[in-house]
Amino acid sequence: VEHLLGIKYLKQNDIDVIFKTADHFKEVINRPIKKVPSLRDITIANLFFENSTRTKLSFELAEKRLSADVINFSASQSSVKKGETLIDTVNNILAMKVDIVVMRHGNVGAGVFLSKHVNAKIINAGDGTHEHPTQALLDSYSIREKLGSVKGKKIVIVGDVLHSRVALSNIFALQLQGAEVKVCGPTTLIPKYITSLGVQVETNLKKALEWCDVANVLRVQHERMDIKYFPSTREYTQLFGINQDILDNLGKKIVIMHPGPINRGVEITSAVADSNNSIILNQVENGVAIRMAVIYLLAQQIKR
Ligand code: CP
Repeated sequence: VEHLLGIKYLKQNDIDVIFKTADHFKEVINRPIKKVPSLRDITIANLFFENSTRTKLSFELAEKRLSADVINFSASQSSVKKGETLIDTVNNILAMKVDIVVMRHGNVGAGVFLSKHVNAKIINAGDGTHEHPTQALLDSYSIREKLGSVKGKKIVIVGDVLHSRVALSNIFALQLQGAEVKVCGPTTLIPKYITSLGVQVETNLKKALEWCDVANVLRVQHERMDIKYFPSTREYTQLFGINQDILDNLGKKIVIMHPGPINRGVEITSAVADSNNSIILNQVENGVAIRMAVIYLLAQQIKR
């Protein structure tokens, strides 16, 4: 593929190649000298039109570990605030000879739009409620690391699926690798189209957790929430919040994941998020190796 715009554009072999490359980079970043000189001639711009902690820092670190030159752009401190358009913003940045653009934007399809209008490799770091492909790759990579493979595993995505780009990218990535996927949450937060993707809906949290090997717990996205869709926070936590009591009564251990940031005490308690069953910080660690792999593989296509 020419860009990384979404998991829906990938084939299973693309994911295999990314994981194999990430395995190598994971070994590299655990060495005393964590850097390789591979991309000394590549310049990367990180354009964030929406807030981020993990994705932004992880991309920047991945780029620096590959020895690329890096520039960072945050819309809130830029001339976007004076009314400059996305295309003008990006073309001005590209005039400074940028090869790869990593972009997070609030609009669905922003990455695809950009890829049609500018001459650079585009990596989607999250477009509205649509896709977050590197998150899904690092999530699958973390499942593979913990359970040996993704194929045949049962994954339930719990919570605010309606507003989640993590959910859609995860569904595509997990199904591509032969996992079974269910979603669980209030019907008001489950999009109607989800069953057309071959995903079953379970509205009983206990049943969903009894079924799965892995629960990927989503953040309740208060900032995208229309109040009419939302059960109260207290109701949500009572019905769909994951706490230690629920897990203790399953009669088996399941792996707990969360893309972050966590609303502690809402969708998951601190005891569960910080428990031995949680691989939340492994996900963050793996994000650097996965992003190094994606950037490295795309950079191989750039003529230099
Ligand atoms: N998981 C994730 O995308 O986190 P950030 O919003 O902090 O980047």
